[in-house]
Amino acid sequence: MRVDIISIFPEYFAPLDVSLMGKARERGILDIRLHQLRDWTHDVHKTVDDTPYGGGPGMVMKPEIWGEAIDAVVAAALAERGVPGEPRMIVPTPSGRPFTQEVALEYAEEPWLLFAPARYEGIDSRVMAEYGSRLRVDEVGIGDYVLAGGEAAVLVMIEAVARLLPGVLGNARSVTDDSFAPGVMANLLEGPVYTKPPVWRGHEVPEVLLSGHHGKIARWRRDEALRRTLEKRPELASRLDPATLDAYDRKV
Ligand code: ADE
Repeated sequence: MRVDIISIFPEYFAPLDVSLMGKARERGILDIRLHQLRDWTHDVHKTVDDTPYGGGPGMVMKPEIWGEAIDAVVAAALAERGVPGEPRMIVPTPSGRPFTQEVALEYAEEPWLLFAPARYEGIDSRVMAEYGSRLRVDEVGIGDYVLAGGEAAVLVMIEAVARLLPGVLGNARSVTDDSFAPGVMANLLEGPVYTKPPVWRGHEVPEVLLSGHHGKIARWRRDEALRRTLEKRPELASRLDPATLDAYDRKV
């Protein structure tokens, strides 16, 4: 997957060299290119923002600079061999479409993502209007809180998407067993997990997990997932599909 990120803080993305993301990049599964937005400014101060029309606090990112940057990044990628069609452009904003596991799965199918994280009060809206008519543009929020900028949101999204790419995780089952994964885990949180020793400071590992009975273990895990979801996220539990749960029980 090709990923371009245009930001005034490309150094923010250093964690993408670490751990699973770093390995995915080394193996060529993830091709991440960082771009400094200020490279497309034309003044000595490399200004990327200006005061908002209509007044109000904060600053807004200037459309011309984003326009030049996006055009140049897309053109350079297209000029390189092997980069397909057009990118899916993702603009992080708390007022965007909520980022969920479903959205991560959708993005994992894309060959090329272009992230445009903003600082200040956001990017002039005409940038999204302009590219919305040329590319597929998503404004996406990672939660109901406000970050100092979109960079941290981009890190979150890339990690959630990249671990779904074939060959990134050692064990493909980790993806299907995830909380929120489609199928029987849809709208279910994963239950508790344990490793050795069987007793630690008087706390015992649930006996069923030591039984070796795969059917019983699968059923226990599903029940624990259900219990945890009802306790911590009742609004998710109300979206559970009884038919999926019944089908699962028949299988077990
Ligand atoms: N930028 C600032 N806050 C954000 C959020 N919650 N999600 C995505 N981008 C953001």
